[in-house]
Amino acid sequence: MKLLFAASEAYPLLKTGGLADVAGSLPEVIRQQGVDVRLLLPAYGDVFERLASPPTVVAELVLAGEPVRILETHLPGTALLTWLVDHPLFSQRLGNPYLDQQGIPWADNAQRFMLLSRAAAHISTGDTVLDWRPDVLHCNDWHTGPAIALVHLEEQRPLTVFTIHNLAHMGLFDRETFTQLQLPEHFWQDNALEFYEQCSFIKGGLVYADYITTVSPGYAREICESPGGMGLEGLLRQRQDCLVGILNGIDVDTWNPATDHYIEQRYDAASLQDKALNKKSLQQTLGLEQRDDRPLLGFVGRLAQQKGLELVLPVLDQILELPAQLVFLGTGDAGYEQQLQSLADIHPGCMAVVLAYNESMAHRIEAAADIFLMPSLFEPCGLNQLYSLRYGTLPLVRAVGGLADTVVDATPASVANASATGFVFREPTANDFLAALQRACQQWQNKETWHELQLSAMAQDFSWQQSAERYLALYRTAAESRRQ
Ligand code: ADP
Ligand code: GLC
Repeated sequence: MKLLFAASEAYPLLKTGGLADVAGSLPEVIRQQGVDVRLLLPAYGDVFERLASPPTVVAELVLAGEPVRILETHLPGTALLTWLVDHPLFSQRLGNPYLDQQGIPWADNAQRFMLLSRAAAHISTGDTVLDWRPDVLHCNDWHTGPAIALVHLEEQRPLTVFTIHNLAHMGLFDRETFTQLQLPEHFWQDNALEFYEQCSFIKGGLVYADYITTVSPGYAREICESPGGMGLEGLLRQRQDCLVGILNGIDVDTWNPATDHYIEQRYDAASLQDKALNKKSLQQTLGLEQRDDRPLLGFVGRLAQQKGLELVLPVLDQILELPAQLVFLGTGDAGYEQQLQSLADIHPGCMAVVLAYNESMAHRIEAAADIFLMPSLFEPCGLNQLYSLRYGTLPLVRAVGGLADTVVDATPASVANASATGFVFREPTANDFLAALQRACQQWQNKETWHELQLSAMAQDFSWQQSAERYLALYRTAAESRRQ
């Protein structure tokens, strides 16, 4: 079986969030199962310095009049063949692939990701010099949605799978942009790419894909209803027979407290007492008071509305009085950045804020914190709570999407039968969040039970194996049903 896996980012070449973690591990795990896989990514300017050796040119294409080169390399640290779509729209753009320095989407994003989509569609159906055509085209999120619409124009086409990592990002562009993209006019219809007088890239995947997946069973249910479906619930309900939720896995080598080179002191379930050294070291680095009589609460993530900061910021004083220490790592919305920074300035020694994208700091927080905060308003899967479980850092999450699917709330019953792995609250209110946090902090005082909870958390297996098998089974069933 041949698989083309197309995405806009993949760790370690370029990462802004969880999509990169998934695209950087799932295709490689599938390759290890014997599938002939190509990962397709844009050749962003920053990517070149992260390659072990210069890539080779394997094709020169002309896509909608634009000359494009396909460069071949391997995803660093793997044997996964990776094709990079090389065009100045990507290679001459450094930094965040979607946003400028002010956090505003690049004005030519429609042209840029249409080019990526056209490359995926061309490799899948066109005459290329590549001499390789996939049986399955698997696209991810809005950036590659149009690829699926385009291949469905062709008679000879691969099976198509589209994964929704986040429905909130739809790739919406105005009518004028749609015209400039030179797409078939009939795409401007409600049963195609048109969405309330705009062109929606994600609809390319949602309307046309043979199969739609999303990254947790919980989110698969939520998006078929309002408000989770964000206006697309009707379409998704129509397509429910072809929609499945497959929980993300995690890269258990990159995220392993026993081998993690970013952290001060490595540890595992048998040496959990050593975790405390990571807390001490982080407190020192970030100028927090060196104390072990209160829990350290960690947050790592995009500073976006999705992540539920609205539930945390209004009760920040109460949180610190629990008592607890707080550390935030993130970038994003300028308003949240400013609020967090001024709160940290008012509470030196108790609260630290790192407004940066910092891989090593993310690992250090996972290893150092006692409790990891993920009060998301919605969360398709969420990876940080899975990393937290593995690091014995108990996640405190809201009961939505993948968070509800992966964390078991510590109740007297679940603690007694050793199934509890964290703390869960329901309502999207600061009060509900604070009540759960109070519960967690009380529990933390009971060292013996806490230790038990940590062991249960660390024993969870969220490695890619199971999920990858589910994707493989989907490709096979789908291919089989097409043959018939
Ligand atoms: P999302 O994809 O919605 O951003 P996930 O929880 O799925 O959320 O994945 C986020 C990923 O991005 C995690 O690997 C997390 O560690 C990483 N991450 C987010 N913000 C930062 C940051 N400021 N510095 C380092 N890593 C970050
Ligand atoms: C998205 C979601 C996140 C998910 C990630 C990877 O960005 O917000 O919940 O874990 O994609 O699928």
